[in-house]
Amino acid sequence: MIVEALLYIATLPVTAKPHRKFVRYSVNLWSRARRCSGQWAEHEEKSQSAMLAAASGLRQKRTVVVLGSGLLRDVPIEALSKAFDTVVLIDLVHLTSVRFWLKAKGYRNVRLIERDLSGYDALRETGSAEPLGFLRGVPYLDLVISANLLSQIGRGVKRRFEAEQDRAMPQDTVQRLIAAHIEGLQIQPCATCLVTDTSYAVIDRNGKTHEAADLLQDVAPPADKTSWTWPVAPLGEESRDYQIIHHVIAAW
Ligand SMILES: C[S@@+](CC[C@H](N)C(=O)[O-])C[C@H]1O[C@@H](n2cnc3c(N)ncnc32)[C@H](O)[C@@H]1O
Repeated sequence: MIVEALLYIATLPVTAKPHRKFVRYSVNLWSRARRCSGQWAEHEEKSQSAMLAAASGLRQKRTVVVLGSGLLRDVPIEALSKAFDTVVLIDLVHLTSVRFWLKAKGYRNVRLIERDLSGYDALRETGSAEPLGFLRGVPYLDLVISANLLSQIGRGVKRRFEAEQDRAMPQDTVQRLIAAHIEGLQIQPCATCLVTDTSYAVIDRNGKTHEAADLLQDVAPPADKTSWTWPVAPLGEESRDYQIIHHVIAAW
């Protein structure tokens, strides 16, 4: 708890004011990822492999943008930094631990950008959203990776939609913004790689499923090249008797 508190306190001043409310989510993720590192290893390895496969066939490797770079656990940062001229990491929050780690590693071609990738504000202000439209302004872009971000956009948008009850927002806000992210990747003129969890199941010790839900709110993801399961909450993490398993896909 003390380490988490210190990480929280150290990250607040380096985070833009509108994003400070998200720091605790990133610290919680950091904490859980450490507790579950053994059970998450295969998911992280498979995510990284998909991203490397997406990068492998490229003729040019000038700029890669990673959306939802977070803790850089499922992102092959070392290989990307070696292969590309510039690596741009985008997230709501870049924890101080991640910033220090990148400095210590001496990656000179890595840039950090804090940005809300949901498109929520644009949808409210203009009635439409193109959350990845800003990528048009990134020079020499050869690859865009969406790194286990999409379901989190859905969760964040749903939380905000329910909390604000803003009549200006369409009823299908969550679906629209999930679809806008998928479409935003599909229309890129460069290569893309989408890695996302698409559903979860709550399973007991006997393997019986008690609850299951679609994390993409019925929005169809693109055809995947590979898929796997991710024990987001293994037995003992949230309950002694139940585990929560997510289904993850990768498309590139
Ligand atoms: C499951 S984590 C991804 C893990 C990360 N790829 C890694 O390797 O550690 C989801 C990430 O999405 C970020 N995120 C969630 N909603 C976002 C949004 N609207 N805009 C930008 N980033 C967001 C979170 O801060 C978090 O870092």
